[in-house]
Amino acid sequence: MKHTDIKELLKNGLVGQNVTVCGWVRTSRNSKSVAFIEVNDGTSLKNIQVVVDKGDSDYKEPRIGTSVKVVGTLAEGRNNTVEINTKPEDIKILGECPADYPLQKKGCSMEFLRSMPHLRGRTNTFNAVWRVRSVLASAIHRYFQSNNYVYINTPLITGSDCEGAGEMFNVTTIGYSNDYKTEEEYYSNDFFGRRAGLSVSGQLEGEVGAMAMGKIYTFGPSFRAENSNTPKHLAEFWHIEPEVAFAELDDVIEIAEDMLKYVIRELLDTCPDDMKFFDTHFEKGLISRLEELISNDFGRVTYTEAIKLLQESGEKFVYPVEWGCDLQTEHERYISEKVFGKAVFVTDYPKEIKSFYMKQNPDGKTVAAVDLLVPGVGEIIGGSEREADYEKLVSAMEARNMNLALYSDYLDLRKYGSVPHGGFGLGFERLIMYTTGMSNIRDVILYPRTVGSIR
Ligand code: 4AD
Repeated sequence: MKHTDIKELLKNGLVGQNVTVCGWVRTSRNSKSVAFIEVNDGTSLKNIQVVVDKGDSDYKEPRIGTSVKVVGTLAEGRNNTVEINTKPEDIKILGECPADYPLQKKGCSMEFLRSMPHLRGRTNTFNAVWRVRSVLASAIHRYFQSNNYVYINTPLITGSDCEGAGEMFNVTTIGYSNDYKTEEEYYSNDFFGRRAGLSVSGQLEGEVGAMAMGKIYTFGPSFRAENSNTPKHLAEFWHIEPEVAFAELDDVIEIAEDMLKYVIRELLDTCPDDMKFFDTHFEKGLISRLEELISNDFGRVTYTEAIKLLQESGEKFVYPVEWGCDLQTEHERYISEKVFGKAVFVTDYPKEIKSFYMKQNPDGKTVAAVDLLVPGVGEIIGGSEREADYEKLVSAMEARNMNLALYSDYLDLRKYGSVPHGGFGLGFERLIMYTTGMSNIRDVILYPRTVGSIR
């Protein structure tokens, strides 16, 4: 269907020309001799106004939500805008929209909109979120591609649990049956002949890529069967994971900061209208906060120092703070919001609370891990330098009672030309939350999958 995107029409270059536009009616007003229809096609936050010269016709006002094709002349409108002048016979109704259309009124609650993931994209808020999501994805690819990273696709079905936290969804084609005497017998009869699950992270295979290509990144879904019904956990989220050979923890931190600054700059430059919308309606001062983030160094603190800061804060935390504890969201937010007032890297965590693959520090107690904490959200990045020494890696796995046979490829990488290397994982939805001011992760993905809820 030949037509022009509203985004292109709004650039104003086609005034005086005959144009065709397709979209959904956002509002419709009728007066004596003219009618006004606001049409949106999803290419821009702004609608285009269609001015209908009714003449003597018996013009029928289209309902909100109706899809239309309009042919008319592009003209200068008020306040530096453009509008389309047309006649009733040049408006073609593509799809009627009955009165029970749920998005009749402005200002529907987020909970209400969450109940209709198939329609909420037609509101300004979700229209802007999906656009920002797309622009951020493209900026992420551009950052890595222009810095010589190779994009690889890691498997989604896997036989090994990367984070070792037992949060893997099983992949099976056979149901529960009393016929199997042992778990082993059950899994050996299953599709893959052994236990398989949905990957929680592409990192282990990402390391395979980095050990051949030097610098790689993945950008795909990860799955976590975490029983965390919080505003920042999804069972299916999108994960960006660069992995770099010949890199130590400081290099990993540098890449993370550089990449975030690049993609946020791109977002601010590419989506000024959407970002203004979020600044006005969701987080006052959002744009200046992001500008500030880009122009300053991120903070940096060790886990041990962070624990001290929390203990000396005088704050009453729900979860007690002592060396060895996992940092909870309340702790992460205190560090980034109250202590630093900006994004901060926390490094060198106790080895017991981190994964087996992290490089063991000479103190014997901590590992070369890094999390990036940001105000408002908490952790958005988790990464580390990896243990490159075969013996040390094996001992960390044995200490966790891991089945080494399942990780033979991974261990081989330490046998054949092992190098210092590292990487990180950025949760895509958490980045979108941080850059839009949306406070619930369910509102930055088309169809959120969370514990107890799927559609
Ligand atoms: O800290 P995580 O668990 O690290 C890893 O998976 C590493 N293998 C990454 C690596 O080094 N290549 O997860 C990384 C990030 C988190 O900081 C968070 O932003 C996001 O993934 N994330 C989630 N996002 C939404 N819902 C969940 N349930 C998430 N779990 C992790």
